[in-house]
Amino acid sequence: MNIQKLTSLAKTAKTRSIVSLFDKKERINDFSLSTSHLYLDYSKQNITEIELAQLIDIAQEVGLSESITKQFDGDKINSTEGRSVLHTVLRAPQSVKQQILGETLAVEVEAAEQQVAEIVEDVQKGVLTGYTGQRFTDVLAIGIGGSYYGVKVSLSALEHYRDLALSVHVIANVDGGALEEKLKKLNSETTLVVVISKTFTTQETMLNAKAVKQWMLSSESVENSKLNNLSQIIEKQWFAVSSNIEAVKSFGINDKHILPMWDWVGGRFSIWSAVGLPLALAIGNDNFNKLKQGAYEMDMHFKTTDFKQNMPVIMAMLGIWNRNALEYPTLAILPYAHSLRALPGYLQQTDMESNGKSVSKSGDKLSWLTAPVVFGQEGTNGQHAFMQLMHQSDDIIPTDFIVAIKGRSQYIENHKVLVANCFAQSEALMQGKTLAQVKAELLESGYTLKEISRLAPHKTMKGNTPSNTLVMELLTPETMGALLALYEHKIFVQGVLWQVNSFDQWGVELGKQLGTRILSAMDGVKDDSLSASSQSLVAKFLARSTVTSSA
Ligand code: F6P
Repeated sequence: MNIQKLTSLAKTAKTRSIVSLFDKKERINDFSLSTSHLYLDYSKQNITEIELAQLIDIAQEVGLSESITKQFDGDKINSTEGRSVLHTVLRAPQSVKQQILGETLAVEVEAAEQQVAEIVEDVQKGVLTGYTGQRFTDVLAIGIGGSYYGVKVSLSALEHYRDLALSVHVIANVDGGALEEKLKKLNSETTLVVVISKTFTTQETMLNAKAVKQWMLSSESVENSKLNNLSQIIEKQWFAVSSNIEAVKSFGINDKHILPMWDWVGGRFSIWSAVGLPLALAIGNDNFNKLKQGAYEMDMHFKTTDFKQNMPVIMAMLGIWNRNALEYPTLAILPYAHSLRALPGYLQQTDMESNGKSVSKSGDKLSWLTAPVVFGQEGTNGQHAFMQLMHQSDDIIPTDFIVAIKGRSQYIENHKVLVANCFAQSEALMQGKTLAQVKAELLESGYTLKEISRLAPHKTMKGNTPSNTLVMELLTPETMGALLALYEHKIFVQGVLWQVNSFDQWGVELGKQLGTRILSAMDGVKDDSLSASSQSLVAKFLARSTVTSSA
């Protein structure tokens, strides 16, 4: 990436006011675009047409078009793991699957889709039941990271589409308290369990799965049933999505209940695969297919649209502009929709686990920074918390606002206020309030000159914070699919520009290794290679640990 070109372009932008860019009347037309499900207003970004055109040139110079083709065609772009990156194929028509994956694999993928669809139908019809023959009332999905966030974000986003006869729960955290809280609500006879783990070795998932297994097998009803063969309970009520078939089988899960995870689909991009089973159980097959359709439409937009009108490319380049040219280190994701409350957490993983790197694909140290720190919360809650800092600290925090024109609730006025707040925040972040404006307001309200000079500095707002506003008409499975795919592609484009491998995550390994060593230290194995701080923390734990159970 031509970082020199980028930084020299940024010189004027750094001292420019975004508001002044609106002197150009057509700005809103020139700085907005639509796809079949989403509208993006990026006119509140601190960028001109000329600068954006130069950014697009930079994207072209690094061979973005070729990289997009390589990804969609299945080249092994995940170079450190020697894998293709083909989550897009999972939402494409069968003919595309055949073309990209070849006949045999395409048939396997179709079979897995079929398997998901049949499980959903059989649960709905009551053909698949718990071991006592009762219909399932609950689904408990166990997984973490990419085997969790996609399900979690889509479950809450599409709660209005859910099958009311079935409640779907997700558990990720290894904190036993979280598990206890979930299990208290569940009936072991009518709970279907899905363990999602590509490796089937992830510590948190395996511990949770074992604990749930024990809970199920030691329930009062199982004891009363005097069943001779307890394994049949697991065989009947448990499913797994994994690529480690042997480990799943030795856990006791029926091999007919194992669904595949492909090595060419990364965990954080896997909701389109059988990982989506808990979601499909919640919203039904048609809606699950509509989610994939929405994503496919975004794929087609991304693949075929000129970069100047290409939503993921534009969003990616604006992100690069903010990160590397204007040097803003964070990105706030603020969905003004309770249903999208899990989106900031989901995007933290997809963005930061993908692009939070500092060496190029060939292992060279990069001379630019990569992924921003992503955070956020549903609006308006964030306004009454961290947005104070966004308005008045010296840090500029670029923001993505996400909002639906139509709400889902009967409380029409609430929705209007929600949307008004969303639009108002982007305006306030851009406009700010100068000292002179504050003074004039205070004077008008009757303050004395002495009070005005004391109070005015506290009431000024820096403004000039850039934002995108993403608008959808209604949050539907198709829109949600498009939204997730939009961010997937945006992150991919940024990875290409930053020249990182967006599809590995070696950074999480060291913590896992040290976790194992600390656990041994907690079991009494002395480890002098740990720092004095960690050894003393372990000693403190050993001296005072009393894990209490409220059960
Ligand atoms: O956090 C690291 C990670 O490897 C993620 O990439 C992955 O999604 C998650 O752990 C869970 O892994 P698995 O699906 O193998 O349990």
